[in-house]
Amino acid sequence: MAKTKTVFQCQSCGYTSLKWLGRCPDCGAWNSFSEERAVETIKGRERAVPLSFEEINPTSGIRQSTEIKEFDRVLGGGVVPGSVILIGGDPGIGKSTILLQAVEGLSRAVGKALYVSAEESPEQLKMRAERLSVTSRDIIILPETSLEGILKSVAELKPKVLVIDSIQTIYTEELPSAPGSVGQVRDCSTKLMFLAKKTGCPVFIIGHVTKEGAIAGPRILEHIVDTVLYFEGEKGQPLRILRAVKNRFGSTNEIGVFEMQDNGLKGVENPSELFLSERPEKIPGSAVISTIEGTRPLMVEIQALVVPTSFGMPRRTALGVDYNRVNLLIAVLEKRLGLHLGNMDVFINVVGGIKIDEPATDLAIAATIASSLKNIPVDHRTFVFGEIGLSGELRAIAQADIRVKEASNLGFKRGIIPIGNLQRMKEDHRVEVELIGAKDVEEALDILLF
Ligand code: TYD
Ligand code: MG
Repeated sequence: MAKTKTVFQCQSCGYTSLKWLGRCPDCGAWNSFSEERAVETIKGRERAVPLSFEEINPTSGIRQSTEIKEFDRVLGGGVVPGSVILIGGDPGIGKSTILLQAVEGLSRAVGKALYVSAEESPEQLKMRAERLSVTSRDIIILPETSLEGILKSVAELKPKVLVIDSIQTIYTEELPSAPGSVGQVRDCSTKLMFLAKKTGCPVFIIGHVTKEGAIAGPRILEHIVDTVLYFEGEKGQPLRILRAVKNRFGSTNEIGVFEMQDNGLKGVENPSELFLSERPEKIPGSAVISTIEGTRPLMVEIQALVVPTSFGMPRRTALGVDYNRVNLLIAVLEKRLGLHLGNMDVFINVVGGIKIDEPATDLAIAATIASSLKNIPVDHRTFVFGEIGLSGELRAIAQADIRVKEASNLGFKRGIIPIGNLQRMKEDHRVEVELIGAKDVEEALDILLF
């Protein structure tokens, strides 16, 4: 009898080896190899037909709405037929909730939806559905963990939308390894991908996230699917941000903002208002930045607290902005403005638990630090943006017009911005808000903190 071929596979990146290894040569993970049956190549597959562009009719133009504006926005305007969408996030963040809500919207437009619940019992799902007032008869619940079982039900029911909750709890009978292992996750999602492409039925896959913040099991999963969405948010806070980190059918870094309420996730139409709603007036160490997330301007408050170090090394903490960037800005403030921060602890926080990752935040961070140190508040109706160079120069940034427009919509009266941006600004914006151009951080802070 032929011996079954087995290979050892890294459970964090999918690297395969014939021998067991203590450390993965590819991703460097320790003790991550487990034995799995070697995957045989698929034989007898139909040959693909070569096509010219003229013969191709794109279906991606047709999008199906989930009837949740914020969700559609993150997807790039709705669900593309035949696409595979992965939704990742911490347990309890709201993945099952948003999908149940989205599936109801979708089923109204396209028809039957199959919700595979491999984690929760149908009773649990029913309780959630009642809470969300989801009553659609077109949503069919399938408590199934075997992929073969799921595929059979799909063939029978012919759903127009499929949800897998979650990929780590389903398994294919072809592999002996446990659900959640790299082999299982990869095989199951590949088969689901084939299903989506063949039938045009969009497939939503829920994936758990590890402590390190990656989708558990494999990075491979991210390569297989068309779209990867991450749910972010702080436990105990109602705010949730859905972020597209990969999207074959739309822009990445697009975000949707939601609030978790008693009856489900509700889209937040104007997140800027929410982020600024509890902003204290005339308190030093706070500044508002006009930032861009995807195509969308957001006004966010940045706070700093600068206090004398009690002993030893000064502490620097950055929540929501890059730690190294904060250190760099502290160095610039010390060198160019002569601020004494060497014996000060500096804490930076972005209000609302949101993360900002763009250099345009520089001026706001510098302004809050200086404001807290000097104990002078930044004017309540002034916003800032601009990148700071190592010699303290204020550099122009992208999409200044949209940022100014959002600020003006929210009632801001004055903006301190890089002179380069001011020169290129369209005339009509200058009327709505008073814009002051600064050439370097010193000039900007002189205007902000007098
Ligand atoms: P859930 O969607 O089950 O999270 P996930 O699938 O990502 O693990 O969300 C569970 C949490 O959301 C739970 O703590 C209860 C809360 N929740 C509400 O606050 N309101 C609601 O309407 C629902 C359905 C859940
Ligand atoms: Mg869930």
